[in-house]
Amino acid sequence: MPISLITGATAGIGSAFARRLAADGFSLVITARDADRLEKCARDLRLRYGVGVEVLPADLATEHGLESVERRLRKDVDLLVNNAGFGLHGTFPESPIEDELRMLRVHCEAVLRLTHAALPGMLARGRGGVVNVSSVAGFFPTGTYSATKAYVTSFSESVAQGLGDSPVRVMALCPGFVRTEFHQRATLDVSGIPGFMWLSADRVVDEAMRDLAHGLRVSIPSKRYKALTALGRSIPAKLVRRVGQAVGVRR
Ligand SMILES: NC(=O)c1ccc[n+]([C@@H]2O[C@H](COP(=O)([O-])OP(=O)(O)OC[C@H]3O[C@@H](n4cnc5c(N)ncnc54)[C@H](OP(=O)(O)O)[C@@H]3O)[C@@H](O)[C@H]2O)c1
Repeated sequence: MPISLITGATAGIGSAFARRLAADGFSLVITARDADRLEKCARDLRLRYGVGVEVLPADLATEHGLESVERRLRKDVDLLVNNAGFGLHGTFPESPIEDELRMLRVHCEAVLRLTHAALPGMLARGRGGVVNVSSVAGFFPTGTYSATKAYVTSFSESVAQGLGDSPVRVMALCPGFVRTEFHQRATLDVSGIPGFMWLSADRVVDEAMRDLAHGLRVSIPSKRYKALTALGRSIPAKLVRRVGQAVGVRR
């Protein structure tokens, strides 16, 4: 049975990955900070899909948490989903430096180190994959969050490029707005975001898995976000900012 390790597997996109991969026959290693919630998710997944589920409580903003997930990845993981992440409330100068650094650690350092820990075993076995959950925000400069996601997308493309024709795949997944706990946790007011801009986590994961199977290096779920990101890359930065403000998240 192939094994998948998913970070941030207890809610939103990570929990949709856990359901989808369990349904596909993967054994799971699920990680997040809240150990009780992890245990409950593991029980539900075992009951519903009949697969093995290990729990690995870890805070990816800490050295101890990162090392424990690195250790597990060096054993025998076939598919790593670097998904854990969060949003920040407030503009850059207002935001406490501790929160900014925590975001760099979870979004950038953890993605880098966990990918680095997982790849040698995958390459030795000649199979495997890494999905790094980024965001369309990475194409639109709007603060530290989008800067970290620009890093995740560029990093994933670079690693995939370096792997050449290897059967091991690395892909950045860049969703638009997805209905999860993300915005509420960060106390972001998303009441101005029109309904058609929202995607479901299950749809995002289905498109990601299809794109991974097709060998894409960057997956942007839905036609509307593919069009939006293409537009974002071709129109002047000033207009991008105006569009961002018009549909934007209020802090
Ligand atoms: N929702 C969106 O609109 C959207 C759009 C584009 C990209 N994304 C990206 O998608 C990913 C998942 O977000 P989501 O929307 O599914 O969020 P979510 O519903 O808030 O879930 C976040 C998950 O990450 C875990 N987590 C948070 N901080 C962590 C830490 N320091 N260490 C370990 N685990 C941690 C949480 O569990 P614990 O709290 O128990 O640790 C939870 O399982 C993120 O990388 C986010 O940036 C989201």
